[in-house]
Amino acid sequence: MTDTITIDDHQVPFEAGQTIMEAARAAGLYIEHLCYNPAYQPHGSCKLCSVKVDGVIQTACTMPAIAGQKVESDSPEMKSRRKTLVEMIFAEGNHYCAFCIKSGSCDLQALAYHLDMHENSFNHRYPVRVIDASHPDLILDHDRCIFCGLCIRASRDQDHKNVFTMAGRGKATRLAVNSETGKLGDSTIAADDAAAHVCPVGAIMPRRGAYSTPIGERYFDARGIDEIDNASGKL
Ligand code: SF4
Ligand code: FES
Repeated sequence: MTDTITIDDHQVPFEAGQTIMEAARAAGLYIEHLCYNPAYQPHGSCKLCSVKVDGVIQTACTMPAIAGQKVESDSPEMKSRRKTLVEMIFAEGNHYCAFCIKSGSCDLQALAYHLDMHENSFNHRYPVRVIDASHPDLILDHDRCIFCGLCIRASRDQDHKNVFTMAGRGKATRLAVNSETGKLGDSTIAADDAAAHVCPVGAIMPRRGAYSTPIGERYFDARGIDEIDNASGKL
């Protein structure tokens, strides 16, 4: 007999070793997420995938599925908590969608639409962060980094280069580049590396091709974020 968990009203089978997120995805159920990408080990930093497991909040991307669990995901309370998290991310960085190259193809923006975020209840911080334009093929715009760590995992586990890491603590946390100068242009990253394409927002972007997709044809113009697999390199 296959073991199952209950996610909202669905009986969801799972295989030994699967997380709640993996079981949900295999069953075609969407749980909001930003730092999870099935190509990489989950690490549970964004908290967007928070669900209640037998009444206790857990991150679905890291919590193992255990037979008989009752998971609450699609409830008004969990949606509201996720919306608050998205508002916090928008308030923490400088996310000016109106002139961001990634607008229309950005997971963060698409999640905000999905969660009906029409305003922000938090005061914006307007951090001062310097753009790294030292690389011939890539731009690193720290203003838009949401610290999901996907570029770190992609560079470490797929490209085997370890170009990125997190530095600092608390609100001073920043994405740091592993090169003598700390600049992307002096690192070993190449335009076709996985780390150059995995960013779910507009932080690591190609230098060329900006605004080349007409409005109406951008990735999330055509579909909601709940309709996709975790997409990277959507620009
Ligand atoms: S640059 Fe992009 S992929 Fe890397 S941590 Fe920031 S948001 Fe995530
Ligand atoms: S997707 Fe699970 S914590 Fe980010």
